[in-house]
Amino acid sequence: MIPQSFIQDLLGRVDIISVIEAYVPLKKGGANYFACCPFHSEKSASFSVSPTKQFYHCFGCGAHGTAVSFLMEYQGLGYVEAIKELASRAGMTVPDDRQSSGAAALEPKLSPLLDVLTQAARFYRDQLKHAPRAIDYLKQRGLTGDIAARFGIGYAPDGWQSLSAIFSDYPKVPALVDAGLVIKHEGGRLYDRFRDRIMFPIVNGRGQIVGFGGRILESGEPKYLNSPESAVFEKGRELYGLFQARQAIRSAGHAIVVEGYMDVVSLAQFGVGQSVATLGTATTSAHIHALFRHTDRVVFCFDGDAAGRKAAWRAMAGTLESLADNKQVAFLLLPAEHDPDSFVRAHGTTEFAQRVDSAQSLPEFLIAGLKSEVDMATAEGRARFAHEAKAYVERVAAPLLRLQLIKMVSEAAGFSQPELESAWGLKPSPAPVRPEPSIVRTPKPSRRSSPSTVIGTLLRLVAHHPVFAPRIPLALLPSDTDEARALTALVDGIDVGELSTQSSLATVMEYFRESPHEAVLAQQVGQSLDEEFESSVTEQVFQDAVSHLRWSHLDREFQAMQRKAGAEGLSLEELSRYRDLIQQRAELSRRTKVSDS
Ligand code: UTP
Ligand code: MN
Repeated sequence: MIPQSFIQDLLGRVDIISVIEAYVPLKKGGANYFACCPFHSEKSASFSVSPTKQFYHCFGCGAHGTAVSFLMEYQGLGYVEAIKELASRAGMTVPDDRQSSGAAALEPKLSPLLDVLTQAARFYRDQLKHAPRAIDYLKQRGLTGDIAARFGIGYAPDGWQSLSAIFSDYPKVPALVDAGLVIKHEGGRLYDRFRDRIMFPIVNGRGQIVGFGGRILESGEPKYLNSPESAVFEKGRELYGLFQARQAIRSAGHAIVVEGYMDVVSLAQFGVGQSVATLGTATTSAHIHALFRHTDRVVFCFDGDAAGRKAAWRAMAGTLESLADNKQVAFLLLPAEHDPDSFVRAHGTTEFAQRVDSAQSLPEFLIAGLKSEVDMATAEGRARFAHEAKAYVERVAAPLLRLQLIKMVSEAAGFSQPELESAWGLKPSPAPVRPEPSIVRTPKPSRRSSPSTVIGTLLRLVAHHPVFAPRIPLALLPSDTDEARALTALVDGIDVGELSTQSSLATVMEYFRESPHEAVLAQQVGQSLDEEFESSVTEQVFQDAVSHLRWSHLDREFQAMQRKAGAEGLSLEELSRYRDLIQQRAELSRRTKVSDS
């Protein structure tokens, strides 16, 4: 582990502006700097960087973080690598801690795998030049040399130990087995996994080769052989072609997900560079998150056969939790005889692009799919449809999309929306309501800010302005919410001197990285940036929030008394406390009323 104290020092020395400016041109506007967001495609500058908070935030896609997170997200670095990178810029040396665990300890083990994979890819590429049969095959599939080079396509020769040509001590390189390039037979004999196959290197987000897909030249089984998962390759995370597609995804404004290696390569050759493929596995939420980091629109394009339809449905079901109201997911099912590769060859780029543009939206696709399973002409069928829909709609967390789906289901099933909601056991969802009386005013609510609790507000306030920490009345906090626990931990951190009342937001966030409070803090901070909590209003926000805490605290006691009064009566002593409470409550609510108007 890298010591916290080093990270605090480091963050005090690096400047997030110069870190980000090395990759993204920033323009100064007031106290902050702005740019078009590097994490989603947009035309106006919603990405802001604050030199005082040492924090960036995009009002468009919600991306936010510190200089460390920026390097991790933008460059695809690991945590330790990002710290090392920043340290070298600041002229500091990361203390070498031998007992380190986790990411730090893992790293030295990763590199031999990456190293042998890179060497093997070079070998396979060279071999292609000497393999007319393989070249003919690629030509016959309509690929140009340019596109083969762009994807680093190669050829694994037909021999049991071809790789020994570049790894002379083949049996003594455990990394070859660990990386899945070589298979160890039960008897201990070693042989190449990929023999006489066209080789498609799989590249991760950092441009490193982490595995291969290998296709046989003739027909036979299995048609494709993929690298097994390893320390550097997780199929549920990687998407074939994403590294090459990043630029095209940004300019097209969408990404297309297809099923096959050849589909990606072939589409790229036809000028559709924004496509990626899952690696013979179902689409995972990690895939979706990876894509949403580059674009707001993802179009799944699957073969028109039964298997393709099934894959599309599974992809849809797998994305429900990851959906957001500002993201779109759509589905394009090709005619039954086609996959994307054959379709674009038969019908051309324009026709393909039109179909992508008019792909069916996720809600339409979901509703149509559910309807097709029942007889919507009967009352029973419609009830069944509404019943089946519930499980899908429930998993959608994006509030507007969820509402949209509820409306669509109720219309299709012939129920009113409240009828459906009550049948589903949902609370009717009219206009969004604040969970607590809104006495905390946010002077200018930031775009997309959702109703926040008072404790959430305090948590955000102290994260931005730790100077308030010593004044937080910890005794008034309830003990049962994540926000309250995070706030207590933050105040404690300052109390024991690990953070200071002068710490920047970035320092606070890095302090909580990988802690149980990280998520709730990130969620709160994500919804409050820049506009809120300018110094001119912080005192008022603080006082309003504390008054509200007092009020709730009193109110809890008051309610308990009231219940007791009704049930068993109060002692004389309690009665006087009860009167007291009534008075204090009234006073507090009068005061907060005044400050609220
Ligand atoms: P398809 O069978 O649809 O093949 O497999 P394809 O992509 O059209 O291949 P070509 O055009 O005949 O070359 C789609 C994807 O499923 C995985 C691969 O990732 C493939 O690209 N797959 C398929 C395997 O992993 N193993 C197989 O044996 C077949
Ligand atoms: Mn195909």
